[in-house]
Parts: sequence; structure tokens; C-alpha cells
Amino acid sequence: MSTLLDPHSLDGKRALVTGSSRGIGADTVGYFAEAGARVVVNYRNKEKRALQLVEKIEDAGGTAIAVGADLTDPASVAAMFETVREAWGGLDILVLNASGGMESGMGEDYALRLNRDAQVSLLTSALPLLAPGSRVVFVTSHQAHFIRTVPTMPEYEPVALSKRAGEDALRAMIPKLDELGIEFVVVSGDMIEGTITATLLERANPGAISARKEAAGRLYNVSEFAAEVARAAVEPVPGDHTRYVGDISGFTGS
Ligand SMILES: NC(=O)c1ccc[n+]([C@@H]2O[C@H](COP(=O)([O-])OP(=O)(O)OC[C@H]3O[C@@H](n4cnc5c(N)ncnc54)[C@H](OP(=O)(O)O)[C@@H]3O)[C@@H](O)[C@H]2O)c1
Repeated sequence: MSTLLDPHSLDGKRALVTGSSRGIGADTVGYFAEAGARVVVNYRNKEKRALQLVEKIEDAGGTAIAVGADLTDPASVAAMFETVREAWGGLDILVLNASGGMESGMGEDYALRLNRDAQVSLLTSALPLLAPGSRVVFVTSHQAHFIRTVPTMPEYEPVALSKRAGEDALRAMIPKLDELGIEFVVVSGDMIEGTITATLLERANPGAISARKEAAGRLYNVSEFAAEVARAAVEPVPGDHTRYVGDISGFTGS
């Protein structure tokens, strides 16, 4: 991973990224730590991986803690925030990265429970920890953000609909966040090469990811997309609270 944000630019800041023991979340939390932030690596059940990441960050001179929480369980989210409050008193950056819904055996409404209800409930419980000037970032895909106007692969549709419902429910909180001086931005990206989601979708629809790559010109990889998520946490928030990563002409028709 190369240095992305200016060294020391996040000195004194505290950041939590949900689902950061692996993938996009792990790289995002790594970028924050490199810039001097104290970071919370949140995991659901991959404690070992989370602890390895904490060790890597500490070896590089950073400060990190690993805190487990299943986001669909409000009690475990409350316990996570209590740990953060005791450790650091609050948060300056909260990235809502964790997502799911393609897992089997979790029940029909799981995608909505995780991608909408758990996101709203998590942000609501985080409010007492977020001081004026803090920033909340919600991570989504173009396939979800534009699901109302552009159909997606059938296997991803329930996830896309639930993530869009989550995005809308979070956007409905903007007036409240404004009152509290908390900034909010949505980061939307195309399919990302090398992720489990992209691999599963390619398996169900052979050629789909290469077709997306051809249509978009290029696809981002995990560290490149994570870099955009990290930048979204520090750069000015666009007027419509939306930061698009990569080409969106295939979704907007323009
Ligand atoms: N993959 C793509 O092509 C793509 C494209 C655009 C945008 N995005 C967005 O980028 C974000 C990350 O995607 P990704 O592909 O890195 O996802 P992923 O590989 O599926 O990882 C999701 C993360 O969320 C965590 N998680 C899942 N369910 C959880 C729960 N109930 N409680 C707590 N944590 C939970 C996972 O923890 P465990 O490790 O414990 O399972 C994992 O760390 C998502 O918001 C996604 O919509 C992805």
C-alpha cells in the first residue's frame, strides 16, 4: 500500500471503518492510520485477521484497536461504541463500509436488515460520539445507487435494492446531521476487480465483469477504491453529498 493522504494530516483524529478486517475496509483503515489517525478495525467474526491488521499498523508506528461487532445486533454495536468511547472518547471519521446480502442461510430479509436497518441504527448509536466537524462516509456501488433506473444482475438485485434503501434512509438523516455539524458523503463505485462479490457475480454470469470493464473503460481494484473512500473522508463534500468513483456514463446515459 502506498502513502495516500499527507503524513500527519490525520494526527489526533479517530476513525472507525465497519467491516475493516479485510478487503476495501482494511485498506481504507490502513490509509487513515498512515496519515496519523487512531483507527478502529471492526470485524464480525474474523478476529485473527483484524488483530493481524492491528499489528501491521502498530509495527508501522500507528495506533489501532480491533473491535468485534455484528452490525445486525444492536447490543453488539452498542458495546463496540462503548469500547471506543472508553478508549478514545469519540470519533472524527465513521465509514459505513460493511455490507452483505449474498450469503446463504441468513433469511430472506437479511440484505435489508444489514444494508438498511443496521446502517441507520449504527449511525444513530454513533451520534453521541461524533463531534461537530466529524465526517460519515457511506460506501455503495453504482449498481445499487442507480438501481431505480438501471437494472443489474439478478443475483445482486436484492443487495442493490437494500443498499439503495439504506442510502435513502441515511440521506433522510442529513438534516439532523447538519444540525449536529456532522458531514455526510456517499461514495459510489463500479464493480471492483478481485472482490468476493465480483467473483460470485462472474461465476453466476460468466463474462459479466469483463463486459463491465469494457463498458467502463477500466475497473478499480480494492486498494484504488479504498483510496477513494479514504479521500472522501477528508476532501470537501460535493453539494449533492455524492462522490462517484470511475465512469458513470453507463448508468446515467450521458
Ligand atoms: N465488491 C465490489 O465490487 C464493490 C463495488 C462497489 C462498492 N462496493 C462496496 O464496498 C464495500 C465493501 O465491499 P467488499 O466487496 O469489500 O465487501 P465484502 O468483501 O463482502 O466485505 C464486507 C465486510 O463487511 C463485513 N460484514 C459483513 N456482514 C457484517 C455484519 N453483519 N456485521 C459486521 N460486519 C459485517 C465483513 O466482515 P467479515 O470479514 O467478518 O465477514 C467484511 O469485512 C461495500 O459497502 C460494497 O457495497 C463493493
